[in-house]
Amino acid sequence: MEQRIDQILTQGKAEILAATTLDQVEDCRIAYLGRKGKLTEIFKEMGKADKEEKKVIGPAANRAKNTLEQLIEEKKNRVRAEELHRRLEQETIDVTEPGKEIKLGKKHPINLMIEKISGIFAAMGYSIAQGPHVESVYNAFDALNSPENHPSRDKTDTFYISKDTVLRPHTSSVQIRTLLDQEPPIKVISPGRCFRCDTPDATHSPMFHQVEGLLVDENVTMADLKGTLDQLAKELFGEKTQTKFRPHHFPFTEPSAEMDVSCFQCGGSGCRICKESGWIEILGCGMVHPNVLKVGGIDPEKYTGFAFGMGVERIAMLKYEIEDIRLFYENDMRFIEQFK
Ligand code: DAH
Repeated sequence: MEQRIDQILTQGKAEILAATTLDQVEDCRIAYLGRKGKLTEIFKEMGKADKEEKKVIGPAANRAKNTLEQLIEEKKNRVRAEELHRRLEQETIDVTEPGKEIKLGKKHPINLMIEKISGIFAAMGYSIAQGPHVESVYNAFDALNSPENHPSRDKTDTFYISKDTVLRPHTSSVQIRTLLDQEPPIKVISPGRCFRCDTPDATHSPMFHQVEGLLVDENVTMADLKGTLDQLAKELFGEKTQTKFRPHHFPFTEPSAEMDVSCFQCGGSGCRICKESGWIEILGCGMVHPNVLKVGGIDPEKYTGFAFGMGVERIAMLKYEIEDIRLFYENDMRFIEQFK
């Protein structure tokens, strides 16, 4: 029996040594120390052995049991450690690898231009006023001193929703809302959408954007208007930009003017952008007509003011050399992504 114990021990050691997985180690344990294990059998048989024999075999069997148990325990620990090591190696994260790119949207160039213009006026102390796209004929025309027969009131020029409501053809209607809503000193700009019955082509769109401006206070003169818009031109097109005011006519201002800026491309010598004239027309402006102030409940004897309106697409097209206004509305990301 002693010999058998030795054999079992040698065999067991070899099998435990050869095991490479936890399952295999567990199989060894069952094979030798389990209920029907080889060493367990020895213990069972020992019950039948006589006293003398037991004295010799007992300690030998116990030593073998202890040895195998210890080996199994050690092996299990080693296999676990190896497995952990292998997993750590396989599952390592390369923290230097670049992350997945998250595609961010870009601001639309029209919004960028509106933000730029708004920023310039905000720095001069203007706040933003808003008005609806669907506007009364009164706010869009009558209150703005526009005569009954003015061509812009024609159904071929302005979208009528009903006899008394239109899709506003300009942001000037916000002037009336502001005058009725606020007391002087008034200092607002109003960026937003406008609509006109134009067939789309490279320079026309039935929907476009304007930024309106309105300032009303005591002792406001044409010099204030010129100084303000000259500052705008320099901030938009560069420090060297010069401005020129040409007499014009708008029903809601008197006197009225159009402002040209010296060409930011050629500096005034003449090029394709300024059509060889050296000047580029940018906006309409003037001193608020006394009739408009009166409609707004403001005493024209006490207060004066100036107003202006500019096309956002037009300025963006000039500044970024965009040749077709329709590009703004196609939402082609290859176009939109180009602007900062
Ligand atoms: N509303 C005019 C237009 O759409 C632009 C304009 C001109 C606005 C003169 C004004 C102004 O406030 O004073 O063409």
